[in-house]
Amino acid sequence: MKNITKKYDNGEITVIWQPAMCSHSAKCFHGLPSVFDPRKKPWVTPEGGSTEEIIRQVEQCPSGALSYIRNDGNVIEEKSESIESETIIEPLPNGPLLVYGTVHIRHGDNEPIIKHKVTAFCRCGASSNKPFCDGTHTKIGFHG
Ligand code: FES
Repeated sequence: MKNITKKYDNGEITVIWQPAMCSHSAKCFHGLPSVFDPRKKPWVTPEGGSTEEIIRQVEQCPSGALSYIRNDGNVIEEKSESIESETIIEPLPNGPLLVYGTVHIRHGDNEPIIKHKVTAFCRCGASSNKPFCDGTHTKIGFHG
């Protein structure tokens, strides 16, 4: 899979999109369509929302394909306040299992991975990046 990174700048923050990680949950499009609209080119138009709205939406990205950096040099804020204290699990119809909250993932002999905000785990079995969803469920027409 190609390792492409696209950046969209509104002057205050830069939205970063890594398409290879996208699980196509469409949460960004449904949550803030004035900024995230896959029918447009470019599909991210940061001037369509406030910086705070964009940050709130990016923090809901289940795959981590969307992230942001503040242009003033501050690093990415990792946690959304609304999901810090509890874990919520949501199977997406015909898609991944979303886990909201901080999770420690032990996978094989690899170093444990710590994920904040939302993590998408593969339910279809076809991901090339298990245990994480890589969007393959849409290509194979997964139903479940
Ligand atoms: S659920 Fe998305 S790749 Fe398997």
